[in-house]
Amino acid sequence: MKNIKRRFFIKSSSLVAGGLVLPSFNINRMANSSNNKKLKVSVVGCGGRGTGAAVQALRADDNVELVAMADAFKDRLENSLTAIKEEMDGEKTIDVKEKNQFTGFNGYKKAIDLADVVILATPPGFRPLHFKYAIDNDKHVFMEKPVATDAHGVRQVLETAKIANQKKLNVVVGLQRHYEKKYIDLHKKISEGEIGKIRGGQVYWNDGGVWVNKRKPNQSELEYQMRNWYYFNWLCGDHILEQHIHNIDVANWFIGDYPISAQGMGGRQVRNGIDHGEIFDHHFVEFTYKSGAVVSSQCRHQNGCMKRVDEVFQGTKGSIEVGKGIINDLDGNLKYKYPYSLENEPNPYQVEHDKLFASIRKGGVISDTENGAKSTLTAILGRMATYSGKKLTMEDALNSNLKLVPEEMTWNSTPPTLPDKEGRYKIPIPGKTKF
Ligand SMILES: NC(=O)c1ccc[n+]([C@@H]2O[C@H](COP(=O)([O-])OP(=O)(O)OC[C@H]3O[C@@H](n4cnc5c(N)ncnc54)[C@H](O)[C@@H]3O)[C@@H](O)[C@H]2O)c1
Repeated sequence: MKNIKRRFFIKSSSLVAGGLVLPSFNINRMANSSNNKKLKVSVVGCGGRGTGAAVQALRADDNVELVAMADAFKDRLENSLTAIKEEMDGEKTIDVKEKNQFTGFNGYKKAIDLADVVILATPPGFRPLHFKYAIDNDKHVFMEKPVATDAHGVRQVLETAKIANQKKLNVVVGLQRHYEKKYIDLHKKISEGEIGKIRGGQVYWNDGGVWVNKRKPNQSELEYQMRNWYYFNWLCGDHILEQHIHNIDVANWFIGDYPISAQGMGGRQVRNGIDHGEIFDHHFVEFTYKSGAVVSSQCRHQNGCMKRVDEVFQGTKGSIEVGKGIINDLDGNLKYKYPYSLENEPNPYQVEHDKLFASIRKGGVISDTENGAKSTLTAILGRMATYSGKKLTMEDALNSNLKLVPEEMTWNSTPPTLPDKEGRYKIPIPGKTKF
């Protein structure tokens, strides 16, 4: 635990350059090579994002082949394969053999075994397990955010990150703002001191919410939760983590640090239907950084209210509104406007894969994991603060013994949360819920 704690607070660069000893494994098994050998890709979690990421991987490099797919559900896998074939029609032939299509909870192992590069895009609760298996087996990884739903998972991912770095494996995490031209440009301006030192900010993910997959007759409780995963914390982690992580991560990135504490409030007012599981529909958190900077984070899933997905920061010399791409001086005069033009903005989802495959080809190492894990933990800290109503520190979050995800699962497993007689789940109550 002491080591994990120490590692959490050191910079990624020192982790890579920190004199870590390479273990004895076969370097030829890794795809770090400048040659043009075929790179075999597997996708684990064949939903919306897994399907999109598979297409982006196929377009990132001429000699990439989709060799295997794994999903908990056969219908999801089949729909994904059809969509990939349709999208790639005329560009690349897609031929994922039936014997390389795996379903259930353990299919991920067989799919990963067949690949050089794996796409991990299941609901985030499974990410630590799948990521560990991929790295233990020397695979390069693209994994979606968040990288866990509890502190136990974050600690596991940080441990695995260390091994990935030792093995010089590339890991891209789907916090795609880091691969978006506008964000990169504005971050550079901030690093150059354009607004001075950041003293505060506001980050937002306020919109109407997401899909609901209603309970079906004869569905087991586990299948119901898996198909309606957004509303269950062991799978999703609540929307403060699942979506708002993007904006919280930008605060960490632009400030160049992770918060030391958080306090906040939240609840559910409109998200109270029978299929709304256990998550909140709004959270408001103050994240305090070591410098004294305070970032207010708000995420709301309620229709008919102000919609905004954005990041804003105030510094000692000016302020920045990322959405508008503008930097103002302390008197509100425009200092800089990002020269946005639609045709000049590469799709960051594609850029993630372009960079990943280019790095594999040239023997480079991208290691997004540590930041992905720390931003995941920041959002979990926010959730712990709003659920408990307490002021908590990052250490509280990192050391939390809350473990939401079971170790091994089969279709006979009992989900970690169960409904009452009316089909309703326990909702966190600030002041009563323990963090
Ligand atoms: N970066 C982004 O902008 C972005 C956008 C959308 C989604 N995401 C992330 O991508 C991930 C997936 O989201 P989605 O929208 O594609 O969800 P989805 O429901 O469309 O897809 C998830 C798929 O994973 C499958 N699955 C669940 N458990 C599994 C297991 N144990 N093994 C194998 N397959 C399993 C499901 O059956 C489903 O097909 C989430 O972490 C989400 O936060 C990121």
